[in-house]
Amino acid sequence: MPCTVEVLFTPAEFRALRERDISKSVCVVFDVLRATSTFVTALANGAEAIIPVEEISEALDIRRRHPEVLLAGERNGFRITAAMSGGVEFDLGNSPREYTPETARGRTVVSTTTNGTRALRACTGVDRVFVGSFLNLGALAEAILACPPRPLLLVCAGTGEGAALEDALAAGALCERLVAFHGGLEVTDSALIARRLFVASRNDLAATVHAAQNARRLLAHPDLREDIEWCLQIDQFQLVPILDRSGAVTNPGP
Ligand code: MLT
Repeated sequence: MPCTVEVLFTPAEFRALRERDISKSVCVVFDVLRATSTFVTALANGAEAIIPVEEISEALDIRRRHPEVLLAGERNGFRITAAMSGGVEFDLGNSPREYTPETARGRTVVSTTTNGTRALRACTGVDRVFVGSFLNLGALAEAILACPPRPLLLVCAGTGEGAALEDALAAGALCERLVAFHGGLEVTDSALIARRLFVASRNDLAATVHAAQNARRLLAHPDLREDIEWCLQIDQFQLVPILDRSGAVTNPGP
């Protein structure tokens, strides 16, 4: 059961985590459109692990040492091509719908995305880091409430250097669930902002999210637009991926 809940809305805030002692905190990282929704989907469909990295060069380096891994991720929303990586065509983009059981089962995926993998890397080394999305909201709330009392940090990956509406909404939705289960939670103003935003939008979540910068970018591409609907399915999966100290995201199971 967390004692305080705080939301970090922007990359500047998660980058500043290295100056804070968060060793005793529980972090949940949200990149609703689309990195964390994609990771949750991939693991639900049987992927062994996801290794989030910041740079294309880091992903290529891991592939050189482990030729069996799948290379994945995006730049400007699209799969990384040979022209962008200096010769290597990436296997997958960052659409959750690509990570079917046929593609994902048993595979280790190395992923580099614009914001999501950076937010996860900023939390590497924290004792307990969960991967959050609308898809696994209920499972997340249960996992957090089962933790011993610790500060809870909801880390939004954002869009570019700014906040992302969809991440703030998901953080707010999680606050709403936690408060419903436990009235004694100390909700900071940042968590109050996110929670009130979600409560005000919950009856028209899709329309609200469609106004967001990330959603508008995806909507403009016929191949990517259905990702939004996918990522807004609440409680689709009952799993809580964790980012372990080695930097891998896995599904620890029931
Ligand atoms: C990111 O990490 O910034 C995103 O997930 C972007 C995307 O999927 O288009």
